[in-house]
Amino acid sequence: MESSKKLIISVIGTGYLGATHAAAMASLGFHVIGIDVDSEKINSLKEGIVPFYEPDLEELLQEQLKAERLFFTTDFSAAKNADIHFICVGTPQSKDSLAADMRYVDAAIEAIGPIAKDGSLIVGKSTVPVGTASRLANLLRKINPNLELAWNPEFLREGFAVEDTLRPNRLVVGVTSDRADEILKEVYADLLAAEIPWIRADLPTAELVKVAANSFLATKISFINAMAEICEAADGDVTVLAKAIGYDPRIGNKFLQAGIGFGGGCLPKDIRAFMARADELGARQALEFLREIDSINLRARTRMIELVRADLGNDLTGRKIAIFGAAFKPESDDVRDSPALDIAAQLYKAGAQILIHDPKATKNASLRNPELNFSESIEETVAGADIILHLTEWRQYREINPKKLISHVLQAKIIDGRNALDRQKWQEAGWQIRSLGVSTSIK
Ligand code: UGA
Repeated sequence: MESSKKLIISVIGTGYLGATHAAAMASLGFHVIGIDVDSEKINSLKEGIVPFYEPDLEELLQEQLKAERLFFTTDFSAAKNADIHFICVGTPQSKDSLAADMRYVDAAIEAIGPIAKDGSLIVGKSTVPVGTASRLANLLRKINPNLELAWNPEFLREGFAVEDTLRPNRLVVGVTSDRADEILKEVYADLLAAEIPWIRADLPTAELVKVAANSFLATKISFINAMAEICEAADGDVTVLAKAIGYDPRIGNKFLQAGIGFGGGCLPKDIRAFMARADELGARQALEFLREIDSINLRARTRMIELVRADLGNDLTGRKIAIFGAAFKPESDDVRDSPALDIAAQLYKAGAQILIHDPKATKNASLRNPELNFSESIEETVAGADIILHLTEWRQYREINPKKLISHVLQAKIIDGRNALDRQKWQEAGWQIRSLGVSTSIK
């Protein structure tokens, strides 16, 4: 066994966030125990297999298992010697409302509270409605008054999870004592040495930072998609517009990629949960604009379908549509609230014949939408197609040679739902290429 740092860490919940956090903390030299109620997930992690696609994570996991710093179990009592317990369970949207479902967070606190040793620090990382941390702190006090709660929101992006965990652009901690701040500084000492900004906040502010950041990102995307609608109406080009406004450093050029909008397990449910919480707090009006952000986002999917109809005619029955991409974004196999998959399912319902290609997400997509058909090969996917829709901007699709692909399709038509393909290259190869927010797309 390689030498470890002094603190022992437990990570409760080993999904996206937890598995990455556990492996990353072990790589910083801590002894880490990852705990989850899902034995299948735990068995897979124990064997060094990450049960989802995330670049670089599997290597890190295997390295840390081998170094004997990282362990996985379904047994909560394994956490009894830990100094710090990170809560990394999911907070999905409730089935019957916009609010976040807090049952997994509550269950984690109830499971760890009675086991945690006196003086240990419980640190929430899950995205929660503001006020949760102080509610949980009260709950913990009743279980054991010698425990302390802090909140340390996580800003990692899927596809860059390892990089974002070990080299985040800031660390935010919500604490109620200097002691908690010091313990967390010890955990993140290597990151602090690399001059990553440290922001100490109170509990509600730390919780709010996370949802405010995701709401801002969602707003940026919907802003550019609203501009895309205007560009279509006014014969403009949203890609040029985005580039031009992005040069202003106050605006910045990131997250201004117009297209079929945002999806995934975070942005959509976080803005909805934020609205629901504001309502409870009597501040509904302050976040009313997020309702519009949500509807602009969902409208982008409808506009994509309208563009298909504008091309193939209103009756899509039997028309063959090839779809590039099922994941909610590239470098991920996550299909939660994926705009690509949603559009595919809607076109299928409208009678079209759908074949979908995705480098990583076809397994998850076929579990979620078993009525749809998938193919492992790009050529097979487009064979005899009336139109191709580019819906998730994987590198593979940008690298396609449009001259070669043209012989496989029935009609050389493609709609770029992500404004990521080289329009000129496709046009020169004889394709009709259209995209959301670009005037030629509707002429
Ligand atoms: C998001 C945030 O970016 C992370 O900081 C945060 O930690 C995470 O949620 C979370 O709450 O856990 P993620 O869901 O991995 O991360 O995905 P993003 O990279 O934010 O992309 C979200 C969606 O927006 C994708 O569907 C993407 O295709 C879309 N998008 C992104 C656009 O449509 N246009 C853009 O310009 C950028």
